[in-house]
Amino acid sequence: DGLNARAVAAGKKYFGTEISTIVMADSSANAIAKNSQDFGQYTCENEMKFDALEPSRGTFSYTSADKIVAQAQANGQIMRCHNLVWHSQVPSWVTNGKFDNATLISIMKNHIANVVGHYKGKCYAWDVVNEALNEDGSYRTSGSIWGSTIGPAFIPIAFAAAAAADPTAKLYYNDYNCDKPGSKATGAQNLIKMVKQYGAPIHGFGMQGHMTAGQVGSASQYVTNMRAFANLGVEVAFTELDISTPSSSPNFAQQATDYATIVSACKQVSACVGITTWGFTDKYTWISNSYPLIWDTSLQKKAAYNAILNAWGSS
Ligand code: G3I
Repeated sequence: DGLNARAVAAGKKYFGTEISTIVMADSSANAIAKNSQDFGQYTCENEMKFDALEPSRGTFSYTSADKIVAQAQANGQIMRCHNLVWHSQVPSWVTNGKFDNATLISIMKNHIANVVGHYKGKCYAWDVVNEALNEDGSYRTSGSIWGSTIGPAFIPIAFAAAAAADPTAKLYYNDYNCDKPGSKATGAQNLIKMVKQYGAPIHGFGMQGHMTAGQVGSASQYVTNMRAFANLGVEVAFTELDISTPSSSPNFAQQATDYATIVSACKQVSACVGITTWGFTDKYTWISNSYPLIWDTSLQKKAAYNAILNAWGSS
């Protein structure tokens, strides 16, 4: 029994977690991550990002990411692979290279061909493009080497390149603040339509799900939002769920209720294939001064654990 076992019993593909080589080096924490009853899926926190995998032009560095994939395979856990094209964690040789449009497209396509080729058959899904939208749903250009040099056409070009390198991986667009209906979620729907209009495949929408305890609201908004994406012919997943509560005055009961709300929403929508949390222990989280995860800093289960089990239902 566990978080993943209950998710699978509820008809989902997985309940998973983000993991890093830093967490893997902590044997007590890693023992939790290795338990496939709780986690049926991993996402690398940083190890598959552009700067990690292609630190200099044409030189690929797979050692850290391969360690995570190997641990997943040893435990029968699937990989969501994250990510191919994002404005952040791009190496300076790309951002400072002053490449023209055609050269930057070839750099992007070469990166995708190498990375997706290296992991061919090993990724259930790829986050092909990450966070390409502004909050109002328009395409991000400011601060994005891809959006400012190539324009929104980089998006379908990236999906087509990923599909060519691994025809079986589910290709996702992934973004934050799109979990509920609103202008950014509408923008993501427009992006999906645009990729299809270019003739490139897109199979999934990743709702990152970085949330705040007490502001999560009711399941119905998430259900409505997921169904709007499913109506476009894509699957959906919560890809980076964490629910912040201040470490100075944490409200773990509210946090547990909010985790259960998200699980209940996913359970109600057949197109929702699974949930990934952005880490599992408050000992290792990207959010400072917050306790957003399911195990505490001493690696003990919090109230959220049983709330998630109960929200999936019996195994
Ligand atoms: O690798 C360098 C290291 O060489 C350097 O010495 C050190 C000093 O600061 O920094 C290291 O890079 C850090 C990197 O994580 C790897 O540890 C960056 O500073 C730090 O900013 C980076 O943070 C990551 C963040 O993405 C970057 O935007 C977080 O760990 C990671 O959890 C976070 O994950 C993102 C998802 O990929 C996309 N969605 C949002 C989510 C949360 O921000």
